Amino acid sequence: MNRAGAGRRAGVTVRAPGKVNLTLSVGPLRPDGYHELSTVFLAVGLHDVVRIAPAARLTVTVRGPGAAGVPDGDDNLAARAVRLIARAAGADPAVAVRIDKRVPVAGGMAGGSADAAAALVGCDALWGLGLSREELRLLAAELGSDVGFPLYGGAALGTGRGELLTPLGTSGSGVFHWVFAVSPQGLATPAVFREYDRLVRTRPAHGERPAAERVTAVADALDSGDAALLAAAVKDANDLQEAALSLRPELADTLRLGPEHGALAGLVSGSGPTCAFLTESAPAAAALAGALSATGR
Ligand code: C5P
Repeated sequence: MNRAGAGRRAGVTVRAPGKVNLTLSVGPLRPDGYHELSTVFLAVGLHDVVRIAPAARLTVTVRGPGAAGVPDGDDNLAARAVRLIARAAGADPAVAVRIDKRVPVAGGMAGGSADAAAALVGCDALWGLGLSREELRLLAAELGSDVGFPLYGGAALGTGRGELLTPLGTSGSGVFHWVFAVSPQGLATPAVFREYDRLVRTRPAHGERPAAERVTAVADALDSGDAALLAAAVKDANDLQEAALSLRPELADTLRLGPEHGALAGLVSGSGPTCAFLTESAPAAAALAGALSATGR
């Protein structure tokens, strides 16, 4: 980042990508209330747009689908990000944050986390701080488990509670076409983890695939660029899916519809309720999106 011109900047616009978790292996509940995770994040083309501009005081405006469900006061995660980086840098957090929502709100795609990451990146650029990605990641980890990943984008392995990130060096040759079925009502992540804990307590061990095997299968598939391989690798690789379906049984119908209309794979995105479908081509994705819309999904 070039610091010299920073003082003259009128504002900064940042793309904040949504994500899907291609694997999500949940480990033990830790004393701090978080679960140990192994997860492969994949950034997708669906993104919010976050604009940060100098202002008399910190304000947040949220527009777009689901905006009414996003807090626009001090507890907005992007506002918290602005205050955090301002405190760390000794800067005045006087900026106007404008968020154009496209990523489903409370949908399991970490849109709010991506907005917060965008606010960190935007303030860093606006104020000419020149923070390294690792410095930004440490700030992001204070805001939430999923806030660090959008700083990397692409595909990355998340461990710890999800905040420790290792980019997956995929060749980048593959383009994968996803369709997202958005639910009208969000799901709260803590509720899904609680349901996961309840289900684990009430049934014998499932014999899930070890986390490392899931990660290798997905990384190889991403590298190959082969959608059919990726479809096989993401099958049954999200440990939170059963909990999300338990809280929202109607999602099972949505998931069934995907393969009936040509999807190679369907999964709950993160903690849900968004369902993500992998298709073999852009026309297949358009056909599936049309078929899902026709059923009201
Ligand atoms: O980190 P974040 O604020 O996004 O997490 C929201 C909630 O999700 C946590 O308070 C916790 O209940 C749950 N969670 C978890 N284990 C993780 C990440 C999140 O139990 N690794």
